[in-house]
Amino acid sequence: MSPRQAPMNIDPDLLARTKGFLDPAEGAWLYRLAREASRLGPCLEIGSYCGKSTLYLGAGCRANGGILYALDHHGGSEEQQPGQPYCDPDLVDPRTGRVDTFAHFRRTVASAGLTETVVPVVAPSAVAARQWRTPLALVFIDGGHTFAAAFTDYNAWTAHLLPGGALAIHDIFETPAEGGQAPRHVYELARASGLFEDRGRVKTLGVLQRRSAGQLPPDLPR
Ligand SMILES: C[S@@+](CC[C@H](N)C(=O)[O-])C[C@H]1O[C@@H](n2cnc3c(N)ncnc32)[C@H](O)[C@@H]1O
Repeated sequence: MSPRQAPMNIDPDLLARTKGFLDPAEGAWLYRLAREASRLGPCLEIGSYCGKSTLYLGAGCRANGGILYALDHHGGSEEQQPGQPYCDPDLVDPRTGRVDTFAHFRRTVASAGLTETVVPVVAPSAVAARQWRTPLALVFIDGGHTFAAAFTDYNAWTAHLLPGGALAIHDIFETPAEGGQAPRHVYELARASGLFEDRGRVKTLGVLQRRSAGQLPPDLPR
């Protein structure tokens, strides 16, 4: 059965009740990408939040006995902080007054039976990347949405992508009226780099595939 035809094996009620920002069509594509990529090596997501994207990516990895590293400091992005437009009061710890999504995330992963597939990495992206040495088959970028944060994620993590590995970037909006422009700028930068083949877009999710050395344009360093 090809990844396109495979059933996702994710509880629809769990998907529906898990807080998050992913369109179902984007999620289904993430599932297929993870199912394909996890045959090559481990996958990594940056920005797990309460685990919605983790459900799709984790289910794709599980189909091959693979691993998904799920990276998030679980303190929320800039726009999710108390007083900001995307703040969910349910996610603010009453003892500290700060956003904390880790308990929600763990519950999602456990409810989905993904504890043998998903390895949580609870740290700022740049700290987790500092001594990372494991080659990756898929990098999904959905962390901080400032240009500095999105560019750091791109810079730090795509260096570990295996040839043939997938780079997926979420929240690509054509105009500022639709949403912040940083993910689109990073996506355009990656497309212009010559390092990737374009695998197209579904809604706000753009996917690129790391070229192997033999496929790189001649003017790029190997
Ligand atoms: C837009 S949400 C992710 C949504 C999630 N992928 C989903 O499907 O619902 C962004 C997440 O990135 C995390 N984040 C933001 N900046 C980060 C950083 N520098 N390092 C690690 N995590 C970060 C936030 O804590 C937040 O949970």
